[in-house]
Amino acid sequence: MVAIALEGLFKSFGATPVVRGLSLEVREGELVSLLGPSGCGKTTTLRMLAGLEHPDSGVIRIGGETVAGPDVLVPPERRGLGMVFQSYAVWPHRSVEANVAYPLSLRRLPKAEVSERVREALRWVRLESFASRMPHELSGGQLQRVSLARALVSSPRVLLLDEPLSNLDAALREELRAEIAALRARLGTTMVFVTHDQAEALALSDRIAVMNRGVIEQVDTPERLYREPSTPFVAAFVGGANVFTGEARSGMFHCDGRDIRFPLPEDLSASTGPATLVVRPEDVEIGTEGASLPLSARLFLGHAAEYRFPVGDTLLRVIGPPIEARAGQLLQVRIRKAKLFPAPVAAPSG
Ligand SMILES: Nc1ncnc2c1ncn2[C@@H]1O[C@H](COP(=O)(O)OP(=O)(O)O)[C@@H](O)[C@H]1O
Ligand SMILES: [Mg+2]
Repeated sequence: MVAIALEGLFKSFGATPVVRGLSLEVREGELVSLLGPSGCGKTTTLRMLAGLEHPDSGVIRIGGETVAGPDVLVPPERRGLGMVFQSYAVWPHRSVEANVAYPLSLRRLPKAEVSERVREALRWVRLESFASRMPHELSGGQLQRVSLARALVSSPRVLLLDEPLSNLDAALREELRAEIAALRARLGTTMVFVTHDQAEALALSDRIAVMNRGVIEQVDTPERLYREPSTPFVAAFVGGANVFTGEARSGMFHCDGRDIRFPLPEDLSASTGPATLVVRPEDVEIGTEGASLPLSARLFLGHAAEYRFPVGDTLLRVIGPPIEARAGQLLQVRIRKAKLFPAPVAAPSG
């Protein structure tokens, strides 16, 4: 069943369009990430879903009910949502218990029920023994778990998370990421998770919507996004792919404005015309054939090494087995596997 439907959303701030025709469906119990670079409109989209921002046009449905559309605007508190933000938004002068109980206080529930539900929510985030602590006695990770408990205490239909792990250090981030996954398995709550971190999105999501400049470029499972990116932007953003514009001709790819050409892998050798070449760092081999390029840097990664080669004003990044190599040395690189996206046909001028 569809839990959330966004249909043709538009939103501008002043004259600046920020969300430009965005559509997305999230199924009951699904965790869908909105993934994209800073400024692409993720938070604005989430705020429209929450009712904190009004779309200029388009329709939003939650659980079959239209909450935003022509002549309809349901306020945030009646959308049945929980929200967690990047900043913990925990009240400093209230105990953990009082913070978590707050959303229930608006509902006039019996005291016993409130304390039972608060205790349960604290148990979900493994803070049951911290109920009477004050926020300044907690770590960043614990504070964010308080926010989570507070968002979940009223059993929302949908949980919205806006970069909830971004303020935590790497170890805590991994820990809380695992807890969100566990909570989801346990509660089955539908979740929309906003992040600019592709590793986070790949690890947590059932599906990922990759956003670029106010539109979704691709919605797919993490594996399909990684293996079958439908645009160069998705390939670069999700897989860290190398992206070169140029022209395919006689089995070679000639990079635009540079004296560099790569032999194309066999399955692409018949391609011709202006195109974008997309190559994952692990699909390039350093050996005895291919293009000859000067190494600019070698970064040891432990199990592998990353090699960087300047290609005009961009870089070719290669990941492969660690070999002895020095900056400045000429190496032979061969593209084993790649994707070619034909350049869009230019509109006739005049
Ligand atoms: N209330 C606002 N007024 C004016 N501009 C805004 C407002 N909110 C967001 N923007 C602009 O909209 C664009 C998208 O912002 P946002 O949705 O926060 O992106 P993201 O969350 O993907 O980083 C940015 O350029 C931002 O500066
Ligand atoms: Mg944001």
